[in-house]
Amino acid sequence: MKIAVLGTGMVGQALANRLSSLGHVVTVGTRDPQATLARTEPDGMGRPPYSVWAAERPDIRLATFADAAASAELVVNATSGFGAMPALEQAGAHTLAGKVLIDISNPLDFSKGFPPSLFVKDTDSLGEQIQRAFPDARVVKALNTLTANLMVNPKELGAESTVFIAGNHAEAKASVTDLLHSFGHSDVIDLGDISGARGTEMLLPVWLRLMGTLGTANFNFSIVR
Ligand SMILES: NC(=O)c1ccc[n+]([C@@H]2O[C@H](COP(=O)([O-])OP(=O)(O)OC[C@H]3O[C@@H](n4cnc5c(N)ncnc54)[C@H](OP(=O)(O)O)[C@@H]3O)[C@@H](O)[C@H]2O)c1
Repeated sequence: MKIAVLGTGMVGQALANRLSSLGHVVTVGTRDPQATLARTEPDGMGRPPYSVWAAERPDIRLATFADAAASAELVVNATSGFGAMPALEQAGAHTLAGKVLIDISNPLDFSKGFPPSLFVKDTDSLGEQIQRAFPDARVVKALNTLTANLMVNPKELGAESTVFIAGNHAEAKASVTDLLHSFGHSDVIDLGDISGARGTEMLLPVWLRLMGTLGTANFNFSIVR
């Protein structure tokens, strides 16, 4: 499948790499490809700049958000919480219409430092805001409750764990579930319509506290029933 991964951070890279290794044709989206490739500084997590990662993966093209989404059958939103809406606006409502849009973003506000607060919660969610702003896209909230590497390599934990999906379109959720199975996820819980994104986004304060307590991001939720 032709897939656009919007986002050049660790989530975008993890998704793009795994999807490409599974045989999909992947284009990564960014605001300004030239500027992204020209970065020489490590990112905020001390990881090498995008160009170093990209040089080892010549099959993965870098394009503007608009170009990447235009050529794709399925779009992944892996941009920052505040970047999600502008990035998707750059991709274009017309381009996103009819496509499955996997939204991994979290509405984290780091403006007052760490831990971040949620800039939307309780009675709304970023997933719902995106679905309302792009009513013809088939938004599926997924994978926002675990660290990037485990999103695409869950078996590395050595035990079964759980991922959640939420969205208004049954067919879109079925496609996303197939994709999640191809990554190695065996426990995918469907939380219903896109308002289920409220709960998965509001798991983030718990996830962040666990990361601090455990001293690692290499863990996941497992729903035992
Ligand atoms: N890191 C994790 O393990 C993890 C786990 C679960 C969920 N998430 C969520 O996944 C998303 C991606 O996380 P990340 O750590 O990979 O990267 P990130 O640093 O949160 O986001 C980087 C991406 O956001 C884009 N962006 C930032 N501001 C923008 C703006 N104003 N307009 C348009 N685009 C903008 C950047 O565009 P450029 O390419 O142009 O710079 C870049 O592609 C976040 O929402 C995060 O909360 C992350």
